[in-house]
Amino acid sequence: MCADKKVAIITGAARGIGAATAQKFARQGYAVILLDVLEEGQEISRLINTEGGESFFFKCDVSDESQVRERVQWVGEQYGRIDALLNIAGIVLVKPFEEISWEEYQRTFDVNVGGTFLMCKYVLPFMKRQKHGVIVNMASVSGHVGQTDHVMYGATKGAIIAMARALAWEVAPYNIRVNTISPGSVDTPMLRGDIDLESRRSGLPFDEVKKIREAEQAFKRWADPAEIAEPIFYLASEGASFITGADLLVDCGWVAK
Ligand SMILES: NC(=O)c1ccc[n+]([C@@H]2O[C@H](COP(=O)([O-])OP(=O)(O)OC[C@H]3O[C@@H](n4cnc5c(N)ncnc54)[C@H](O)[C@@H]3O)[C@@H](O)[C@H]2O)c1
Repeated sequence: MCADKKVAIITGAARGIGAATAQKFARQGYAVILLDVLEEGQEISRLINTEGGESFFFKCDVSDESQVRERVQWVGEQYGRIDALLNIAGIVLVKPFEEISWEEYQRTFDVNVGGTFLMCKYVLPFMKRQKHGVIVNMASVSGHVGQTDHVMYGATKGAIIAMARALAWEVAPYNIRVNTISPGSVDTPMLRGDIDLESRRSGLPFDEVKKIREAEQAFKRWADPAEIAEPIFYLASEGASFITGADLLVDCGWVAK
């Protein structure tokens, strides 16, 4: 464990955008703590360490308060610092509005909004004590545009944007920045699952639905997860020292249309 290294906690780090973000921060010299409900996070951590990085993986459900408290406490005590918190973990809910059950509504809010809330709540005391820190929370274009069958998912992302705006003001006196990032379509297991569902519901072949969804981006393609990890790293870097309370659209023109 290197005391000089900056420390980043990344949730949802077992795959997709979270895994790419963990790899990016590790390559930039951060010690990275990977949290996820999936054991595959162990493999990402092993890859990072094989490359010469420093990482630990812990199984953690971000919507479980005692798990979040314990994991964050461990990081704070072991490293004595938490420089960056990247809240990437999230779940999608793709369903016509009236078919959504109360349990599905609650689970979507508990993970996306609740998980972001809990992680910030337990990391902030460490950042306040050290009088610096950066938080990047994961929103989405779904928090900006009306997307059919994504009503409550979009609502969680809108809430995450609103939460970051107010939190940015609350923690600014402690030299802590809080921002969100709103990607368009990113090629991850989540999006492929989304397209698969849409394909089965509509009866259109997977590749046809994929083409339609790719056309929502000006370059007519999906992003690679690494193309989202880069702007997340930028928001956490000194280059973004005057950026707080902002949402960065990384949507290849989707909202601009
Ligand atoms: N893929 C896209 O097109 C896209 C676009 C905009 C925003 N996003 C957002 O980016 C984030 C990452 O998405 P992705 O596409 O990489 O999805 P993904 O499903 O591939 O990865 C999400 C990760 O979060 C983890 N996770 C889910 N619930 C968790 C919980 N309760 N506790 C801890 N970990 C949990 C999953 O196990 C998984 O490893 C999500 O917040 C998603 O809403 C994705």
